[in-house]
Amino acid sequence: MIYLDNAATTFPKPQSVNDEVYKCMTTYAANPGRSGHTMAMEAARVIYETRESVAKLLNVEDPLNIIFTFNATDSLNLGIKGYLKSGDHVVTTGIEHNSVIRPIKELEHFGVENTVVSCNELGELNYDELEASIKDNTKLVVVTHASNIVGTLVDLEKVSKICQDKKVTFMVDASQTLGVYDIDVEALKIDMLAAPGHKCLYGPQGTGILYLREGINLKEMKQGGTGSKSEEIVQPDLSPDKYESGTHNTPGLAGLGKGVEFILETTTKKIREHEQELTQYFIDELQKIDGVTIYGPRDAKKRAAVVSINIDDMDSGEVTFLLNRDYKIATRSGIHCSPLGHTSIGTIKKGAVRFSIGYFNTKDDIDAALKAVRELASKQA
Ligand SMILES: Cc1ncc(COP(=O)(O)O)c(C=O)c1O
Repeated sequence: MIYLDNAATTFPKPQSVNDEVYKCMTTYAANPGRSGHTMAMEAARVIYETRESVAKLLNVEDPLNIIFTFNATDSLNLGIKGYLKSGDHVVTTGIEHNSVIRPIKELEHFGVENTVVSCNELGELNYDELEASIKDNTKLVVVTHASNIVGTLVDLEKVSKICQDKKVTFMVDASQTLGVYDIDVEALKIDMLAAPGHKCLYGPQGTGILYLREGINLKEMKQGGTGSKSEEIVQPDLSPDKYESGTHNTPGLAGLGKGVEFILETTTKKIREHEQELTQYFIDELQKIDGVTIYGPRDAKKRAAVVSINIDDMDSGEVTFLLNRDYKIATRSGIHCSPLGHTSIGTIKKGAVRFSIGYFNTKDDIDAALKAVRELASKQA
């Protein structure tokens, strides 16, 4: 299989990730932080090391400001719903994933207003409109770092500056970028950052992170056992324990730690340059094929490694089906959980076929995808 669905979940993972998950499952997958025996202590130690690695990647001084969740959706729900209260206003963008906009829409039932700032047909954010949308009761700005449909990047420095000037909390959905782009939360003055472990961080599914700036206190989404202050019948106010009730995904977090180590050793620069090179090549060649419509910026430096297209008026689901059946190429079609994004780029009715490139893809993979698109397009002519 030629795997070009990395924006959904990256595959394959570095071998060190697979090995650590196996090692954890076969030697130390006891309950971390709950018992005093060697295996439980080893599990807790490995989880702490993963916290340290993620903190290092984000330039966070205290690893305890990294909260583990089960995916990016979990992190976004915790950050958005845990922060906003009745009477507040939140600003977001027209390229968000449903994991941002759905929690925000849910909050309308609890008296939280929202504004969705427009993006153009390339998925580019209107920064002036974003600034103008901030009101006296605006408490939070949530932006994705890159569209999961067209990859268009949001300038985090620009949004951060607006948030600082207006004294509004700044949250980033880095689902498509953390691990590929340098995101220094200190330099960028990001207050909250959500990311899945299973995409660009190369962890297993069932892992996610939320960075929380020191001093931000969220309402937790659930209460229960934390292994700390066990004598108390109310939820402890310790972070990250407060937000991590219930047994951790120890094998997942063990693997995630190795995934982040892989990034730190390889460097985000090398990963990004490889992905950008393949993305630029793919776009340049796609542009030469009659009947293919490419969405988003043509310059790979302005987008993450996500390329969505349509072939004439072929149904995007059919294209993905044929790519899978006849060419053994994995892509994703439809609306990609982002009706906002598809509305912005003008494809809400027909959707698109998304090819998402990862660090382990090669030029041969891209050539195979181009050959398949060429053949499918020629059959339409
Ligand atoms: C931009 C963006 N945000 C959030 C999510 C949700 O991620 P998860 O499936 O880990 O909850 C995704 C997943 O595709 C995404 O691309």
